[in-house]
Amino acid sequence: MEYSKIIDLVKQTKTIIFDENLRKEVELKGEADFVTEIDFRVSNFLKNELYKLYPTVGFMCEEETNNTQFDKKRWILDPIDGTTNLVYDFKISTVSLAYAENDKIIFGIVYNPYLDEIFTAYYKKGAYINGKQIKVVERELAYSLIEFGIGSNRKDEADFAFDVAKEIFKNCLDIRRLGSAALAICNVACGRVNGYFEKKLNPWDYAAASLILTESGGEISDWKGNSLQFENYSTVVGGTETVQEFLLDIIQKNIEK
Ligand code: IPD
Ligand code: CA
Repeated sequence: MEYSKIIDLVKQTKTIIFDENLRKEVELKGEADFVTEIDFRVSNFLKNELYKLYPTVGFMCEEETNNTQFDKKRWILDPIDGTTNLVYDFKISTVSLAYAENDKIIFGIVYNPYLDEIFTAYYKKGAYINGKQIKVVERELAYSLIEFGIGSNRKDEADFAFDVAKEIFKNCLDIRRLGSAALAICNVACGRVNGYFEKKLNPWDYAAASLILTESGGEISDWKGNSLQFENYSTVVGGTETVQEFLLDIIQKNIEK
């Protein structure tokens, strides 16, 4: 696989993402769930270019209606992770692209155009920011930063998520909540935060970032501790060894309450 060509294609999305006119074209997909013309343009651009390079590889994407999530070889794309941030010009949004074979992620890219940072990971060959290898940073729980996510339209799950977050906050250094799950998981991979959890994420939110995290020495699983799958949505929890153990435990205790 021509990794550098694919990385280059993902970087080219920056011009689309920074196009002020496209950003104004916003629709509501559902309650508090935005999609912009930028999401569609990034998706179409990458779909067409990747097809030219690899015509037999399937395509699974947040804004795609004909998803081929059961293809053995497929791309898993979130054209914009952090769409609400994009609409509000919060400057924290990413492009997330993974290549999967038989439900194993072989290659993952998460691109943050605002900082020009590109996270990459290659199965069994490490994780990198702009080509420089990264590793998780093991910290005691009391000095760990932990991020969590909850979709803006999931008000019915707010009590559980914020109750767990409150308990975590009392045990760790602090909580973060920035609005791009893909970036949050990458931030665990490079030690900027030390753990992340969210009740419902789609494969395009976590596919690329999950490889970036495991290749940097971190752990990631569903809330029962099982390996992640990439065909359907899932609960997700990831972190350093210490934080992952703590998060799995605290989530389980709160489910049983
Ligand atoms: C969302 C972001 C957010 C997470 C939501 C996702 P989107 O993706 O990753 O951080 O909490 O669950 O849906 O809609 O911005 O692509
Ligand atoms: Ca997303």
